[in-house]
Amino acid sequence: MTSSKRAKPHSVYIPKLDDEHDKISRDMDELNRTVAAGGEAHELLQDLIEDMSSHLAGEERMMRSAAYPSYAWHKHQHDAARNRLKRFAERIDAGESAAVCEMVDFFRLWLRDHTGLHDRMMAAYLRNFGRAHDQKAS
Ligand SMILES: [Fe+2]
Ligand SMILES: [Fe+2]
Repeated sequence: MTSSKRAKPHSVYIPKLDDEHDKISRDMDELNRTVAAGGEAHELLQDLIEDMSSHLAGEERMMRSAAYPSYAWHKHQHDAARNRLKRFAERIDAGESAAVCEMVDFFRLWLRDHTGLHDRMMAAYLRNFGRAHDQKAS
């Protein structure tokens, strides 16, 4: 088995979502490295905000279209993350570079916990929904 095929520790087994989670992690690493080296945060922060926003909105669309029963609970977690990201971004844009480290630490844990529980539950439901739908269609 090649390393690219090995299941990741927090895989939700929906490749699109796994790729997006990886991209968000890479955005955070890059932002952290750049700021630690004295670089400019603004553009990388915008990339992170865009990737995070479109990821969360995409999951919410998938949940709605499959009538996911725990949608409200999951969306509540997303809204809390959106608010935290907005507050961190305001501090970073105001020039508080220490907020980058704090934000990356916060979202690394948030992503791990949220992906490990909420996203996995959602993805299991979506996979089953997709299979049931495929069976009806055939
Ligand atoms: Fe996610
Ligand atoms: Fe999620």
